[in-house]
Amino acid sequence: MRVIIQNDYENLSLWAARYIANRIKAFNPSKDRPFVLGLPTGSSPLGTYAELIRLNKEGYVSFADVVTFNMDEYVGLQRDHEQSYYTFMWKNFFDHIDIKAENVHILNGMADDLQGECAAYEQAIASYGGIELFLGGIGSDGHIAFNEPFSSLNSRTRVKSLTYDTKVMNSRFFDYDLNKVPSQALTVGVKTVTDSREVMVLVNGHAKARALQATIEGGVSQSWTCSALQLHPKAIIVCDEAACGELKVDTYKYFKDIEGSNLGVAAMLQ
Ligand code: GLP
Repeated sequence: MRVIIQNDYENLSLWAARYIANRIKAFNPSKDRPFVLGLPTGSSPLGTYAELIRLNKEGYVSFADVVTFNMDEYVGLQRDHEQSYYTFMWKNFFDHIDIKAENVHILNGMADDLQGECAAYEQAIASYGGIELFLGGIGSDGHIAFNEPFSSLNSRTRVKSLTYDTKVMNSRFFDYDLNKVPSQALTVGVKTVTDSREVMVLVNGHAKARALQATIEGGVSQSWTCSALQLHPKAIIVCDEAACGELKVDTYKYFKDIEGSNLGVAAMLQ
């Protein structure tokens, strides 16, 4: 596992976006061989999306041959609901880049057959040969996508009930009214994420410090589903100083030392 510790959220975002852009460029995608990118919602990736939009607009990277799969979607919200993840993704990212609408995949939380929708999503991912790079965030309880604590580390795309804690956290987007927060979501599984050839997770702020500690230093455990990343051959955590508060000094120093020459963001633009 690589851990990139940046001073602040801005540099975390620049590093992550530039890394993704460079991976897409190096892959040299085409219509017949697209780059398959997994994407999250939440506040963590907003800075990364902003920089990817900038890089796209200035011609540094194109998304014309990029296929995306989003992590999750609420059950029971219409696509055009202002808090659906569909709306979030178009508003904060897709509307501003040169991606083709037919290359965007987002689970449909209004499907009549939710389980069928999830199975079809896994098949769609497989039809592209799997995901090249899955970008994610984590909840303060360590959930990745909507894989709440005690989700199987072998889980696949399915319907999940949201925990009380997650509903409270997300109620900020629903007028702080718990009754308005959907109780269920469709989500890729932990295994759907870890089957990707590379996984990058963004972790910022004090509120994520315990989750970051569990991800890096704790044992692999279903109680912190993000810890499954320890078994992935190519996992990268990009975090800020504020999120490092619960790490051992030795752990912090190790990653600062070993990644020291890779932290500069200006040098990433080739
Ligand atoms: C939600 C999403 C997750 C996201 C998490 C953290 O629960 N389903 O994918 O990682 O929130 O969100 P934030 O980045 O806003 O802290």
